[in-house]
Amino acid sequence: MKITVAKSEMEFFQTGAERIVTQMIQKRDSVVGLATGRTTRDVHAAVCALHQQHPFDVSRITVFAMDEVTNVSRDYAGSCYSMILNQIVTPLGIASANFIMPPTRSHDFAAEARLFEQRIAERGGVDLQMMGIGENGHLGFNQPGTPFESACWHSLMDRDLEVRIRRETQTPDSVGLGGLTLGIKNIMQSRKIVLVANGPHKARIIAAALNGPVTPDVPASVLQLHPDCEVILDPAAAQYLP
Ligand code: GLP
Repeated sequence: MKITVAKSEMEFFQTGAERIVTQMIQKRDSVVGLATGRTTRDVHAAVCALHQQHPFDVSRITVFAMDEVTNVSRDYAGSCYSMILNQIVTPLGIASANFIMPPTRSHDFAAEARLFEQRIAERGGVDLQMMGIGENGHLGFNQPGTPFESACWHSLMDRDLEVRIRRETQTPDSVGLGGLTLGIKNIMQSRKIVLVANGPHKARIIAAALNGPVTPDVPASVLQLHPDCEVILDPAAAQYLP
């Protein structure tokens, strides 16, 4: 694992953005997996700023989000579809045919999961997977306890996120909320992985994931086993590392 500690918050977002831009420039038909959250939102803004200053060709770039909230409208501002659309796809001018996402609503999420994997595989698999980390070590919607061999699946949401999404979308308790997420196995099949984490609230889980035992109890610890994984941190998130 390569660990990069940025000197400042600004350098942190810039470094994350540079990894995405470098991938897109080096391989014009790259398949880039993205993730949502506050951390990646600001990384994506830095990607857009770089693209504006130094435009590069994205006509053959494919992007997707590693997970999607289920049983809400796709138009809800907090759906991964809307966030990636607004943060990256529209500003960079990525073709809608090259933006792969599972639906937010379906009668058969297991079938949607297979289809999502298939669409990514048809484009040659994932060149770069960017991701954030949950304070409990989750990757995408793979909560602690998810087996490492899990493929794309329909998972439960953590309680805090569920409460927020119910409030924002006025979804009643009778409708189950979840997340369709790439599984740990899919994530590990990415050719390159970059995980970004900033702020003191991520420091404990970063230390556990990077230096603790490799265990499904801390999903992100599996990244210790990936041959090409970089973790980009700000000084606050790195404070418990040796
Ligand atoms: C959500 C997403 C994850 C993301 C996490 C971190 O749970 N499903 O993919 O890693 O948020 O979010 P933040 O960057 O806001 O801490």
